[in-house]
Amino acid sequence: MDIASKNVAIITGAAKGIGRAIALRLAEDGFDIAINYRSSSANVKELMDEIENKGCKVIAVQGDVSIFEEAKNIIKRAVEVFKRVDVLVNNAGITRDGLLLRMKENDFDKVIEVNLKGTFNCIRHVSPVMLKQRSGKIINISSVVGITGNAGQVNYSAAKAGIIGITKSTARELASRGINVNAVAPGFIKTDMTNSLSEKIRENTLRTIPLKRFGTVYDVANVVSFLASSDSDYITGQVINIDGGMVM
Ligand SMILES: NC(=O)c1ccc[n+]([C@@H]2O[C@H](COP(=O)([O-])OP(=O)(O)OC[C@H]3O[C@@H](n4cnc5c(N)ncnc54)[C@H](OP(=O)(O)O)[C@@H]3O)[C@@H](O)[C@H]2O)c1
Repeated sequence: MDIASKNVAIITGAAKGIGRAIALRLAEDGFDIAINYRSSSANVKELMDEIENKGCKVIAVQGDVSIFEEAKNIIKRAVEVFKRVDVLVNNAGITRDGLLLRMKENDFDKVIEVNLKGTFNCIRHVSPVMLKQRSGKIINISSVVGITGNAGQVNYSAAKAGIIGITKSTARELASRGINVNAVAPGFIKTDMTNSLSEKIRENTLRTIPLKRFGTVYDVANVVSFLASSDSDYITGQVINIDGGMVM
C-alpha cells in the first residue's frame, strides 16, 4: 500500500483504553493513523473501521515496543505507507504491581522494558524521520506516580519517572529542529488497567481527587489532541497532569 497522506500520527498500544481513544480523537482532528497493537488483535478491525468512517486512512502494525527491531518496524511501516510522521504517541504500557519485598525481578524488568525502553525505542526510530522533515510532535504517556511515587509500584513509578527524563532530554536535543516533545501524566483513568484494582483502592484514590471523579479516556485524548496540534507549538519539555487535581 502506498497512499498520499495528510498529517500522520502513530499511536502505540492503541487497540484499547487510552490509546484507542487517542487514535479516534486524532482521526477526528484529521490525522491519518498508524495504530500499533501487541496482542489485542480482536479489537483492531473495528477500530480501523471507525477511523476510516471518519474519512481518514489507517494502518495497523502488530509489534512489541519493548523489542528494538519491532519498534523499528512499526515506524518503518508507517513511513512506507504514509511517507511522513507528524505525531508519535508513546502510549503502550503495562503494570505488574507488588510491594518491594515481594516484587520479582522479572516484574521489575518487564515494566521497565515495555514502559520505559519501549518509549525510548519508538523515539529512537522516529527521530531520524522527524529530523529530516524538520518537524514533529512526540507525546509520551507518563503517570502521576512517576512524580509522586506509589507504594506497590516501584517498577511502574520508576518507568514513568524515567519517561519524564526521556521527555525533557529529547525535548532539549530535538527543539532546534522543530520537534516538540511533551508528556502527559494521567491520574486514575477508567480502563482495563484500573478495572482490576480493588474497591478499597478505588475508594481511597477517589478521596484524593479534588474534582471528585475518576478520569475518562477522553480527558486524556483531549490533552493529547492539543499537544498534537499547532496550538501547542511553543510548548516543549513539559509534563501536563490530567488527574482532577490529585497532584498539585
Ligand atoms: N489507566 C490509568 O489510570 C493510567 C494512569 C496513568 C497512566 N496510564 C498509562 O496510559 C497508557 C495506556 O494505559 P491504559 O489505561 O489504556 O491501559 P490498557 O487498557 O491496559 O492498555 C494498554 C495498551 O498497551 C498495549 N501494550 C502493552 N504492552 C505492549 C507492548 N509491549 N507493545 C505494544 N503495546 C503494548 C496493550 O496492547 P495489547 O492489549 O495489544 O497487548 C494495550 O493496548 C499506559 O502507558 C499507562 O501506563 C494509565
